[in-house]
Amino acid sequence: MIEKNKIEEIKHQTDIVALISQYVQLKKVGKNYRALCPFHTEKDPSFYVIPDKGIYHCFGCKKGGNAITFLMEYEKLDFPSAVRRLAKDLGIEIDTSHGLKHREFYDVNDKAAQFFTLCLNREIGKRGRSYLAERSLDLTRCKDFRLGYAPASGGLVTYMRQKGIKQESLIKVGLVAQHSTGRSIREIFRDRIMFPIFNLSGRIIGFGGRSLDDNVQPKYLNSPETPIFKKGEGLYGLYQARDFARQKQEILLVEGYFDLLNLYQHGLNYVCAPLGTSLTEKQAILLSRFAKKVYVLFDGDLSGIKAALRAIGLLISAQIDVYIASLPDGSDPDTVIKDQGVDALRGIVESADDFFHFYRKHVNTDTVEQEVAVIKDLIEIVSNIHDEIRFDRYVKYAAHVFDIGADVILRHMKGKVQETPRTSLRSKKTPEEILMAMILNHKEYFPGAAEILDTDDFMDPALARLFQTLRKDESFDVSDLSDVDIIDEGLKERLMALIIMEPTVSYEEFKKAVVHYKSEVETRRIKEKIAAAHAKGDVQAVMQYNEQLNVLKKKVLQLKTENVTHDVGSTG
Ligand code: GTP
Ligand code: MN
Repeated sequence: MIEKNKIEEIKHQTDIVALISQYVQLKKVGKNYRALCPFHTEKDPSFYVIPDKGIYHCFGCKKGGNAITFLMEYEKLDFPSAVRRLAKDLGIEIDTSHGLKHREFYDVNDKAAQFFTLCLNREIGKRGRSYLAERSLDLTRCKDFRLGYAPASGGLVTYMRQKGIKQESLIKVGLVAQHSTGRSIREIFRDRIMFPIFNLSGRIIGFGGRSLDDNVQPKYLNSPETPIFKKGEGLYGLYQARDFARQKQEILLVEGYFDLLNLYQHGLNYVCAPLGTSLTEKQAILLSRFAKKVYVLFDGDLSGIKAALRAIGLLISAQIDVYIASLPDGSDPDTVIKDQGVDALRGIVESADDFFHFYRKHVNTDTVEQEVAVIKDLIEIVSNIHDEIRFDRYVKYAAHVFDIGADVILRHMKGKVQETPRTSLRSKKTPEEILMAMILNHKEYFPGAAEILDTDDFMDPALARLFQTLRKDESFDVSDLSDVDIIDEGLKERLMALIIMEPTVSYEEFKKAVVHYKSEVETRRIKEKIAAAHAKGDVQAVMQYNEQLNVLKKKVLQLKTENVTHDVGSTG
């Protein structure tokens, strides 16, 4: 566990505008910043960053939080990793048992990779070496990938024991399996070419293994998911390709290990692969951090085409310019290079179709209904393009290609785009919500409010709980709002809208607003008492309460004429 005050320190020291600008183009509006939300697709910006609160909030998809949650969400990090990343940027030292645990995982994998590489280069790895030669891989050009060989006879457990690594650790990283019944264990990878899988920090998080014998199933075996290895989150080869990709702002996306390595060793080194799983949204977003343009080079068979069609929507939504290379049926990039040379593959990449053409080419439009379906699919994809000019071009292009009015296309899209920000800003907020937002907005004034208000002054039980939390937990502030589960999402959103839109007030004004609110609450209570007394016929009590009511009314009137800028009253 990372200490709580360390987390607070990190949260408060991080410049949230600087952080988020690394990912999103922010535009200053007043004292806040606004942008197109990175977490959902929208045309009008409803994503806000509030620097003096250290928070962000999107009125469209309702995502919001602080610097830590932003990194978790955007970079798909877990909480400690996000904190650690921020700490690193700030130069703050933290060390935790959790971090050590991960480091231990990496260490075990790294030593295992050493073992596999060692085997590949020794007598025992002869089979592996000749297999790689047969597949035209030049090990010296693929050094960065640290390929290896897992011998048929095993040996990992013994080697690791000598290095001081316990069997238990090997089980944890998924290199060894324990039989559920007895004590016997077994090394998972045998007689396989080993491909270490790296994360973006260059640590080995898992392995893929290709069997040397085509009769052995499965052909490819991957490490199981572990705390450090999550399938569908990373991309094979991205660590090695990242600088090349950033430089070129282009990435070649292939399906397999051998496709990738073959391209890489021939200088097409801005390449990565999703590995077995079909491309996920996380992977698409990851790609968008490294390049503007992605060339999809999937196998030239039906399943490759289907996978490419599926990937288009995800890549476009991640604001990537997508091109799809059509490979000859029955071939993959690996075999094209092997049979026709790397220049043939370069040619295929150069003549890649944009997603629109590819889609039309490969989807049936023989009947009118099929055509309607394709048009709708393509409009859906185009509607996710943020870049105005590209969006406009594609709408006009679609109109031209399908001989249909651009206005029809735009109308169809409009029906689908959610009208988000305005509705949430317009939705009605109660006086107590307005007051709570003001309190959250001015946490430094809280003692002034705590003097006057009681928990039961809030009618909404959720607001009462929030007030209590503020009382109990001094460090709780608006940046923690998105994390708490004591209030529902609708309320969170209304509070966020108020926090963002309302101006900052002086302590004087704040105090007046609180007093005014309290008076309104008291007025309401007395009125209830009067009604009860009336019902009982207790005339004396009615008179007494009426007197109290008059005093209160005077007080409220006085407050009003003192020119309270923040009208949080009007409960009655
Ligand atoms: P080679 O036959 O070695 O050239 O493989 P390939 O890359 O051409 O294979 P294929 O097109 O069948 O598969 C593409 C990618 O999907 C592979 O590189 C693997 O990452 C993955 N894959 C293929 N077969 C399997 C399998 O049986 N199990 C798993 N887990 N992954 C597989
Ligand atoms: Mn292949």
